[in-house]
This record gives sequence, structure tokens and C-alpha cells, in this order.
Amino acid sequence: MSVKTLPLVHIETFGCQMNESDSELVRAMLKQEGFVFTDDRERADVVLVNTCAIRENAHKKIYLHLSELKTVKKQRPLVVGVLGCMAQNLKSELAHKEPLIDVLAGPDSYRQLPSLLTTALDAQEQGLARKGFALDLSEYETYEGILPDRNDGVNAWITVMRGCDNFCSFCVVPYTRGRERSRDPESILLEARDAATRGFKQITLLGQNVNSYRHEEWDFAKLISAVADQPGIERVRFTSPHPKDFPPALIEAIATHPRICKHIHLPLQAGSDRILELMGRTYTGAEYLALVERIRMTIPCIVLTTDIICGFCSESDEDFQATVHLVEQAQLDSAYIFKYSERKNTIAARKYADDVPDQLKGQRVAKLVEIQRAITAERNRRYIGKTVEVLVEGDATRSSTQGMGKTDGNITVVWDKHTGHSEPGTLMTKHIFDASAATLYGA
Ligand code: 5AD
Ligand code: SF4
Repeated sequence: MSVKTLPLVHIETFGCQMNESDSELVRAMLKQEGFVFTDDRERADVVLVNTCAIRENAHKKIYLHLSELKTVKKQRPLVVGVLGCMAQNLKSELAHKEPLIDVLAGPDSYRQLPSLLTTALDAQEQGLARKGFALDLSEYETYEGILPDRNDGVNAWITVMRGCDNFCSFCVVPYTRGRERSRDPESILLEARDAATRGFKQITLLGQNVNSYRHEEWDFAKLISAVADQPGIERVRFTSPHPKDFPPALIEAIATHPRICKHIHLPLQAGSDRILELMGRTYTGAEYLALVERIRMTIPCIVLTTDIICGFCSESDEDFQATVHLVEQAQLDSAYIFKYSERKNTIAARKYADDVPDQLKGQRVAKLVEIQRAITAERNRRYIGKTVEVLVEGDATRSSTQGMGKTDGNITVVWDKHTGHSEPGTLMTKHIFDASAATLYGA
């Protein structure tokens, strides 16, 4: 390969933590081949945009960003690479319609990036426009043997499985990230030890469907316990599991291991059994509630969060009321609530009409957000008067005179630094004297 001068690469990441983690893999692979990274887009020879396809507004945000890059590219030579889920999802549309894009690579094709970028840079030097695409999904690619080039900080992401075989009818992920495959536990443990040696205090295990992790006799409960046993690691988190397989052994592992965080993000999606069935979620509202109950019986201090979609195909007022009722019954600690956004090629796009008017979807989201906000505020108030352990992350967003950290349950705590502060990555105890729906205030 002919990388002549050291090309400067700038990478921008949209979407979920899995994309953050993928960008770290991309950085590692490119650095190995002599590429150098810069935080300053103005100086970059190559700009990579790691994209998300989960909802239409993710697409819109990225299109807006690409149009900004177009202006930059008019002023000077620039190679633009679009990576990730939107690249995979919109292959031909993006590739052919968009002159801006030189390289397109999907989530399973990043090993090809060094050669694709070198070819694009060479072509540009010769005044040629040559596009390079790598969009094959793989049943095996887990980027084994590549240690991510991590951002400094407190938390290290470790992807333990890739892809998803659930095919929830609304979801684009099985099409953008392909079939489910799990990594070798030994290499995951090696990565955890490496992160600990580099000073990371928290590990978050990632997978689109993380509790379906399976490798020979290893299941997710065994894996997370083994990661939490690694010396130097203070906290281990994971995201996101599917409620359909939450075995007692996993609940037990979370309950008993002191370093596995007492937080479970458990996507509900809807409270109406009819809608859950159309979504292909394979559980009923009652089964979800029973799981919540089971988890709370074993781990009373657990923090439970969720995802909910409003306005899925054919959702009636009655269906929506079922979601409201379930949210009120479950009393979860917080929720991300989205308007349904039809994605091309998904089962829902092929089989059902996206027939809830946008305005009504918006009204339902607003109503549910309000209901959940009150529940969250109420639940957060339970911490007032208690002492919690926080892992310090740094300054609060609002003021550098305030520190910020997270509880074991992933709730944000803010304090005035003069009441006691420490370096990011330190565990501190804070006494909580006030709480809102977003924050606990401690001293
Ligand atoms: N429309 C709206 N929300 C979606 N999600 C996934 N697909 C869609 C879609 N088509 C939500 C789900 C998922 C979260 C990551 O995004 O709630 O849990
Ligand atoms: Fe977006 Fe889903 Fe892809 Fe993550 S996996 S980047 S949320 S589409």
C-alpha cells in the first residue's frame, strides 16, 4: 500500500454507543496503517462520518452534516468516507446520487478502510474521482485481534456481540448490522484487562442484543461476572438486553457481584399486547411487568430504564392507553420515548401502513414524556437524605465550579466542588439533599 505523506483523518460519530465503539476500532485499524488522527476537521485530508439509521431524524441530521462537508470540499481537496448503518442501509442511493462521497463502508467492512482510503487519496492526487465501496455484511466479522483506540476517560466500551437476529418489525438494525455473532470470551477478557491497565475504571459491555451472547459454554451471565472479576475495574455496565431472554442466572449475577452496576436498560417498546405482537417482541405487557417484578424482588435497589415507541402502525387511542397504563404500573426510573419512524425494508414497512398521523405521534410522545417525567422525579426524590456512591466523571455541564458523576444505577449526581471533589475515575460518597427528574444534588 502506498501511504505517502501521513494523511490526517478526522472522524465524526453519530448514533449509539456501538458506533462510538466502532469508531475506536476504525481508528485503531487506520493508525496501524500509518494514518494519523486529528480533532481539527479544518486540517484533515480525510473526513469519516460514522452514521446512524435508526430513525428518519438521524438520517436528516447526517444529510445536514454532509451538506456542510460539501462546502468544505469545494474549497480544498478532501476525501469523504461515510461509514456505519446509514451507509449500509442506503448503499446505492448514497453511492450514486452523492458526488461528495468517495468511500462508503458498512459496519462489517472496516478492515477494508485503509486500502479504500489510500486508493481514494491516490486518485484525488491524480485528479481522478474514484469511488470505493465495501458493504458486505458478514456472519463472522467480530474484529478479533484489534484493540480499540479509545478516547481517554472513565468508561471503556467493549463490544461483545455484533448484529441482531430478532427482526423486531420496526427495526433497521438486522439489515444494517447483519446476523448475530458473539466474540471469544478470552479476547473480551484480554481487552478488559488492557482497559484496566490503561486506567479505565468502568467497562460497558455492548451488543445490539447483549444478553443473547453465547460462545461455547459461555453465556452473558458468565461473561459479565468474569469481566467484573478483572482487577482494577470498579464498575461494569451493559446495554441493551431484550426482555425475552433474561435468565435467573443473569439477575443473580447482577444481584450478587459488587462491581456489576445495579442498572438494567430494558426496552419495553409498547404496552399494548396487540402492538407488541405486530412489533414481533415476543412478550406481553403482563410478562414484561412480571420480569420487572422478578428483577426488583432479587435486586431491590435496581434502577430500571426503558425505550418506548409511540405511534407504531395502527396504534389506536386504546393501544396508547395500554402503554400509559403499563408505564404507570411499572414505575420505571426513566424512559427514552420516540415517535415511530418507518424504515425502508423492515418488516413493518413491508407489511403494515404507517398510518398514525405525525401530529398524533408527537402528542402521544409529549403525553408519555410528561407522565414518565413525574414518575422519574418521584423516584429520584427517594434518594434525598441518602448517601450514594458516585464515580466521578468530571465537571458538570452547567458550571465548572460543580462536579458530576454517576451512581451505580447510572443516575447523574451534581455537587459544588467546594463540598469535596476528586479526579475523574474516583469513587466518592455524596449525601443527596435535593433531586429533579434529571439530576440528584449532593454534597
Ligand atoms: N422508529 C422509532 N424508534 C425506533 N427504535 C428502533 N427503531 C425505531 C423506529 N423505526 C427505538 C427503539 C429502540 C431504540 C434504540 O430506538 O425503542 O429500543
Ligand atoms: Fe443507529 Fe442502530 Fe446503527 Fe446504532 S445500531 S448506529 S442506533 S442504526
